[in-house]
Amino acid sequence: MKMITTLLFLLSFSVVQAADTREHVKLPSHMQSHMLGNMRDHLAALAEAQRLIAAGKWNQAARVIETRIGVSSLRAHGASHMAKFMPKPMQALGTAMHHEASRLALKIEEEDPRQTFKGFSVLMQRCNACHVRYRIR
Ligand code: HEC
Repeated sequence: MKMITTLLFLLSFSVVQAADTREHVKLPSHMQSHMLGNMRDHLAALAEAQRLIAAGKWNQAARVIETRIGVSSLRAHGASHMAKFMPKPMQALGTAMHHEASRLALKIEEEDPRQTFKGFSVLMQRCNACHVRYRIR
């Protein structure tokens, strides 16, 4: 049994490795860490917004999404500076993701749970669409 488990583990590992067809985008190293910092903040913002909604604080949640992931976050992220190091389709995925976040913020303001869930779902699909396609390290 232990042997089978080990085998399955190794097998799944190699499958994951073989499936990594992400395109490598080379960024200057300071930009690489800047971008990863932004990314971690996106995830933190999603978690924070969900925590606020669970506490009934819809407006605060909408603000978190808009200011940290939405279109209003672009300048703070240095997006225009970073964009020129990215291939065009990657830029487009980034832009689409920021717009989706702004749409989600509007849905949250309406305090409709179902629409809000839908909005989170579409936004996170946008995150994944880029993650399956590109890597920077
Ligand atoms: C335009 C492309 C793009 C979009 C959109 C995007 N990401 Fe990323 N993300 C990346 C890349 C590239 C990496 C680095 C992958 C690598 O090389 O390891 C990354 C890494 C991350 C990491 C790991 C950070 C670290 O320090 O290792 C997190 C967390 C993350 N993204 C969250 C998100 C979330 C949440 C969203 C959506 C709200 C999102 N990302 C949208 C491209 C994107």
